[in-house]
Amino acid sequence: MSAGKKRVFIKTYGCQMNVYDSGRMTDALAPSGYVPVADAESADLILLNTCHIREKAAEKVYSELGRLRALKEAGAAEGREVLVGVAGCVAQAEGEEIARRSKVVDLVVGPQSYQRLPEMIARAGKGRAVIGTDFATADKFAALAKPSAPPREARYAAFLTVQEGCDKFCTFCVVPYTRGAEVSRAAPAILDEARRLASEGVREVTLLGQNVNAWTGEGPGGRPWGLGHLLHALAGIPGIDRLRYTTSHPRDMDDALIAAHRDLDALMPYLHLPVQSGSDRILAAMNRRHTRADYLRLVERIRAARPDIAFSGDFITGFPGESDADFADTLAIVEEVGYASSFTFKYSPRPGTPAAAMDQVAEEVKSERLQRLQAAIERHQRAFNAARVGTVAEVLFERRGRHPGQIAGRAPWLQPVQVQGDESLIGSIARVTISRLDANSLHGELAGRDLPVEMIA
Ligand code: SAH
Ligand code: SF4
Ligand code: F3S
Repeated sequence: MSAGKKRVFIKTYGCQMNVYDSGRMTDALAPSGYVPVADAESADLILLNTCHIREKAAEKVYSELGRLRALKEAGAAEGREVLVGVAGCVAQAEGEEIARRSKVVDLVVGPQSYQRLPEMIARAGKGRAVIGTDFATADKFAALAKPSAPPREARYAAFLTVQEGCDKFCTFCVVPYTRGAEVSRAAPAILDEARRLASEGVREVTLLGQNVNAWTGEGPGGRPWGLGHLLHALAGIPGIDRLRYTTSHPRDMDDALIAAHRDLDALMPYLHLPVQSGSDRILAAMNRRHTRADYLRLVERIRAARPDIAFSGDFITGFPGESDADFADTLAIVEEVGYASSFTFKYSPRPGTPAAAMDQVAEEVKSERLQRLQAAIERHQRAFNAARVGTVAEVLFERRGRHPGQIAGRAPWLQPVQVQGDESLIGSIARVTISRLDANSLHGELAGRDLPVEMIA
């Protein structure tokens, strides 16, 4: 390591937006001489990029800070200063309290203040924690340094944040408080970043936003654009062959976006469309502002546009007031939609959210429902994956496989796929005949070039 270089280690929790932000923090720190390292032990600056979504996620921060105290003391014994910072959604929500409770923390920085990191770090380490948790009005992305080349693990499939924040205020959720109001990045900046990713060999771009389909912008001549228009423009960039977006809210799926699923081959036939509950009563109490029937109609319209599309969802069990009948409605919607995969969570009361003050469901009821829901979802997931066996799927190969001689990538529906194949195929998209599946992955053989990709209805 050359003189003047300092080492930064960032540990990332939570959603993909945090993964993206960690990359941008690394970029923002580069001009101050920080190089990223993969272990906390050798770092001069340790940043925890935290998640506040559920109690367990937030608790991890405090236990991790306990561990970092030892590292900091070991560094001090060698005469080396180790700075510790808390970033992300816990920083935004509980920044002041963390600084008070933990002597280890030198800085606290919320998600809207990362452009201030270099200046904050210059002031840190002088006893009192430096705190930056304002919601900056300026576009954080414009103020942050331009992203560098994607990290090695994201050579061919990269994230690109296009929207941040949330105005929906679901009664269970902290995101509107930790990330602030809905803000969209301007289309030219997004297209520039995508072009740069493509020039670095990226083939697949996943657009990120807490409410990604609430994205709004302007096209050429100041025409109003929604996410559907943006996807059209991105699909026109040479080298970008696959597009995804997450997470979308059912209320923001407009006609142009649904049409994009019909018109754009690059838009992968997989959509994460959280519903949270199948009960109208609970949906209303959650302030989701759509009914079960609205959601099912939407799924039907998207399927009509793109018949091979697969859905994934988010579900919460044991939301306050959830009865057996409400939960039965959730199980029923799982059967009706037939999700290809899903994320399931036990309701976790979050400080300051309206649902935390409602009548709570007993912990064992939440757990028992979670298990039943997971069993139903796993059954559908297995059935979906089993139905791929014997068909041909296009796979973007991203890395070496589990065993020598194997390469691995992802199918259009996000499952990992392993095949015997030459490493020279990494970075390209090839047809694979799916031959079998194990727990989470599909296995297959490279198919001849002339084989048509089967449409899966
Ligand atoms: N913006 C996205 C998701 C944000 S958080 C959306 O609206 O769908 C990701 C998921 O975490 C949510 O979809 C929800 O299922 C879950 N979640 C959020 N708050 C929660 C809480 N208090 N308890 C349990 N799960 C929660
Ligand atoms: Fe949270 Fe609801 Fe906003 Fe999603 S839409 S981030 S669940 S408040
Ligand atoms: Fe967690 Fe914040 Fe993402 S609370 S889920 S890291 S937006």
